[in-house]
Amino acid sequence: MTEPIVTIRNLTKFFPGIKALDNVHLNIRTGQVHALIGENGAGKSTLVKILTGVYFPTSGGIMMEGKPLQFKNAIDAQSAGIVAIHQEASMFLELSVMENIFMGHHKRNKRTKKLNWKEMKEATSLLLKQLELPIKPETLVKNLSVAQRHMVEIAKALSLNAKVVIMDEPTSALTTREVEDLYRIVRQLKKEGKAIIFISHKFEEIFDICDYFTVLRDGQYIGEGHVKDVTTDDIVKMMIGRSIDQMYPTREVTIGKEVLRVDSLSQLGAFRNISFSLHEGEILGFFGLVGAGRSEVVRTIFGVDKKSGGSIYLDGKLFEPTHPSDAMAHNIALVPEDRQQQGVILQMSLSNNITLPIIDSICTKGWTHRKKEMRVAVEFGEKMEIKAAGYNVDADTLSGGNQQKVVLAKWIATNPRVLILDEPTKGIDVATKAAVHEFVAAAAKMGLCVILVSSELPEILGMSDKVLVMHEGEMTALFDKSELDSEKIMRSALGEFKEKIHG
Ligand SMILES: Nc1ncnc2c1ncn2[C@@H]1O[C@H](COP(=O)(O)OP(=O)(O)OP(=O)(O)O)[C@@H](O)[C@H]1O
Ligand SMILES: [Mg+2]
Repeated sequence: MTEPIVTIRNLTKFFPGIKALDNVHLNIRTGQVHALIGENGAGKSTLVKILTGVYFPTSGGIMMEGKPLQFKNAIDAQSAGIVAIHQEASMFLELSVMENIFMGHHKRNKRTKKLNWKEMKEATSLLLKQLELPIKPETLVKNLSVAQRHMVEIAKALSLNAKVVIMDEPTSALTTREVEDLYRIVRQLKKEGKAIIFISHKFEEIFDICDYFTVLRDGQYIGEGHVKDVTTDDIVKMMIGRSIDQMYPTREVTIGKEVLRVDSLSQLGAFRNISFSLHEGEILGFFGLVGAGRSEVVRTIFGVDKKSGGSIYLDGKLFEPTHPSDAMAHNIALVPEDRQQQGVILQMSLSNNITLPIIDSICTKGWTHRKKEMRVAVEFGEKMEIKAAGYNVDADTLSGGNQQKVVLAKWIATNPRVLILDEPTKGIDVATKAAVHEFVAAAAKMGLCVILVSSELPEILGMSDKVLVMHEGEMTALFDKSELDSEKIMRSALGEFKEKIHG
């Protein structure tokens, strides 16, 4: 193997009450895609943030091309050639693509020192063309899809002439096609001799695109190797110290009476004619590619968005929510997909976050019962296996996956009858994923009705009693458990069976 371009030795990072990294070492090589693997809270993002000058290490260091590096800030790391696309979006939404790309390293006229927008626009066009992205330099970033924003961040990395490009869960919000685009770009970067660090909880991505891997557990280095020499099971064992024999619980299903019925529900411009019914104890999978309209349907049932046609019935009675509070009053809970924007309040403590929807039950005359609040928070936090320094810490100190678990805990604490989960295991590690599935199965067994929106076919197949498939805002199939077949579901999601239902 070639000499590493970046070497990390004995890297340790303390946060109050937590050792996020404990004597970690890592070698990064050019022309190689290096997977950084570990459970939620293992220390992956912390390592990335140290490599990019966002955090200082407590001890240990980084060498690049044989020289020790000490970054005072992110700009230092950029100038050294290390650029990251972080787990949380870090773009300026109100600015244009080119302004974002050249933020911090504007091109100036050599003589007058004035900003040279013409040159920056040309350079941006060239970068976008190189990446085969159909985006204009002047477009405001807020008008781009999440995937396109990621691509712009990659363009920015190229504009900085980065030698090391780090991607922290870049695919969690991408459609299948966009993932292909990203793979293409990763391969291109690799060919150009960049070193790439790739973080993902999806094993198929690690096997598709990565050459080498390093595993962290509880902030410690566990092992490394060539991806081609290992199996998923080997990696799981390194990650959590044991294998997981069962990803999906075996379920005994007793279906009770009908609770929710949706009849030709439509929302102009988003979805049309969605119909299904949901009984006690039942899990309805909602499958489709990202952007098929599934989130919009569940948001309408929850009273966030307004319907333009059709009806919703709860216990046989017409239900017309105009606000989420209507849905909550009827014990419907929705765990939203975009948890960073709609789910956790980052500047609020863990316990406050978890008890937020049930604040009335732990308050009297405006005073919160702290003890009761803490008891509820701990009870549901433990159910979701949240890892944090304590329940008083702010949510923004939690790892990405643990923030997701906070949102799950928060809605489950409302004791719902209808539980709607929008991509509940996105960004969650294997072991916790199995725990979430276990929990959902247990909830259904207790008589809850569950709508499980997921873009992961194995999850849909492993959990659902029936599956509704959507494609471009339309319902293309409704399969019963006995008819579940991955190929049929996939083809319906691609819109191939449309005639069957609407014909
Ligand atoms: N700013 C911070 N203050 C306090 N603790 C922090 C801070 N940032 C991270 N931590 C803690 O450090 C540990 C490692 O977190 P990190 O975000 O690196 O995990 P991760 O491996 O990226 O997990 P995930 O897969 O969930 O994204 C966690 O226990 C987290 O709570
Ligand atoms: Mg992370």
